[in-house]
Amino acid sequence: MQPTASHPKERIYCALDTVDVAAAAKLARKLKGTVGGIKLGLEFYCANGADGYKRVAEEGLPIFLDLKFHDIPNTVAGAIRAVAPLAPKLFTIHTQGGPEMMRRAAEAAREEAEKHGHTKPWVIGVSVLTSLDGSDLNAIGVRDAVPDQVARLAALAKDCGIDGLVCSPKEITLARAAAGADFKLIVPGIRPAGAVIGDQKRVMTPLDAVTAGADVLVIGRPITQADDPAAAAMAIAESLNA
Ligand code: C5P
Repeated sequence: MQPTASHPKERIYCALDTVDVAAAAKLARKLKGTVGGIKLGLEFYCANGADGYKRVAEEGLPIFLDLKFHDIPNTVAGAIRAVAPLAPKLFTIHTQGGPEMMRRAAEAAREEAEKHGHTKPWVIGVSVLTSLDGSDLNAIGVRDAVPDQVARLAALAKDCGIDGLVCSPKEITLARAAAGADFKLIVPGIRPAGAVIGDQKRVMTPLDAVTAGADVLVIGRPITQADDPAAAAMAIAESLNA
C-alpha cells in the first residue's frame, strides 16, 4: 500500500511528542480521517513501551515508530523482531550502523512481516541528524560535507534494501538523485506558510516539500498545538491540492 497514492492527507504523519498516553490517544482519535498516520518516537516509547503504542494504535491510524535503531546487526535485527508484532507502517534505523546492519534490518523486517502475516513495514534510514553540521562531522572524523555524506548514505541504504530516508527539506533533491524514484523520502521541518517556526532551522511549506519530492511529511506542533488540530491538519492537506 502506498500511503502517498490516494489523498494528499495520506502523506501527513503527525508527530506526537509527548509521554502522556491518554493525551496521545485522544489526539490520534481527533486526527483520524485528517492525516495518514501518527509518529511515535523515543520519548513516548521509552515512557510507555509497547502498551502505550498499542493504546494509540487502537485509534486506527497507521503508526510511524521512530526509534532510530543503531547497534550491531544482530541486536538491531533483534529489536526489529521485537517490535514486529506491533505492525508499524514504517520505522527508523540509523544508516551509519553500516551496510551489514542495514541488510540485516531489511531482512528481519521482511521475515517478521511474513511470519505475522502483516504488510512489510517500510524500513527508513536516518542519515546525518539535522542537529549536526559540517564541523560536528569533522569532529567525529567524517571529512565530507553534510550533503555529500547524506547522498552517500542514501545510495548505500538503497543498495542494502532500505526503503527510504528521513531527510531535511533541503536534502530532498540530493537524496532523490542519489537513491532514485522508488525511495521513500520522509521529511520533517515542515511549516505551513505563516506558522510558528519554533526551533526548526530550515523549514519548507508542505506544498514546496511535496513538489520537491517528499513522500511523507512529518508535522508536529503546527497540528498538535493548534486550537483545533483536526482543522489544522485538514488545512495542510488542502494546501497540497494547490
Ligand atoms: O513539531 P515539529 O513539526 O517540529 O516536529 C517535527 C518532528 O520531526 C519531531 O518529532 C522531531 O523530533 C522530528 N524530526 C525533526 N528533524 C529531524 C528528524 C526528526 O524535526 N531531522
